[in-house]
Amino acid sequence: MKTFIFPGSFDPFSLGHIDIAKRASRLCDKLVVAVMFNRAKNSLFTDEERVEMAKICLQDVPNIEVISRESLLVDLYRELGASAVVRGLRSESDFRYEAEMNAANTLMFPDYQVIFLPCRADLAFTSSSIIKEVAYYGGDISRMCVPQIEEMVHKKLLEKRAEE
Ligand code: PNS
Repeated sequence: MKTFIFPGSFDPFSLGHIDIAKRASRLCDKLVVAVMFNRAKNSLFTDEERVEMAKICLQDVPNIEVISRESLLVDLYRELGASAVVRGLRSESDFRYEAEMNAANTLMFPDYQVIFLPCRADLAFTSSSIIKEVAYYGGDISRMCVPQIEEMVHKKLLEKRAEE
C-alpha cells in the first residue's frame, strides 16, 4: 500500500492544487491531503474551513483522504508510513523554497522522500495569495478556483471587512 502525502496551507484550495492532487492520486494507492500550518503565513480561513474546501474540490476522487494536522510534516510522514510527499512546483523561486524544506525534512528524517510535480502551465502563476489579493480588490478569480471556493472567498472577505 503506497501512501503519498500532499501537504499545504490551502488557504484557499485552488485549481492548481486540484490539478496536483488528482495527478498525484494516480501515482499511489492513497493520497492524504494534509491541511497544515505554515507559521510564516497568516491564514484567512480556519482549519475546518480549509479542510472543507479541500473536500469540496476532491470529492470525486475515491483514493484521496483530507485531514488537518498541526505538527511537523515528518512526524505525520512517519506516523502514516508514507512513501513520499508530493509538492507542486510553479517556478524557480518555488524550487528554492522546496529545496530548503526538503533539506530540513531529510535532516530530521533521512527516509523522507519528496516528489515534485510541475504545475499546469496555465496555472503556474496563480497561488492562494494571488486569489486572496485579486478577490480583495473585487477582481475575477473564476479561472483560479472552482465556483464554491470562489463564493467562500468572497463571503470570507466580506466578513473580514465587516470586522475591520
Ligand atoms: O502551502 P504551503 O504554505 O507552501 O505549505 C507549507 C507546509 C504547510 C507544507 C509547511 O509549512 C509544513 O510542512 N508545515 C508543517 C510544519 C513543518 O514540518 N515545518 C518544517 C518544514 S522545514
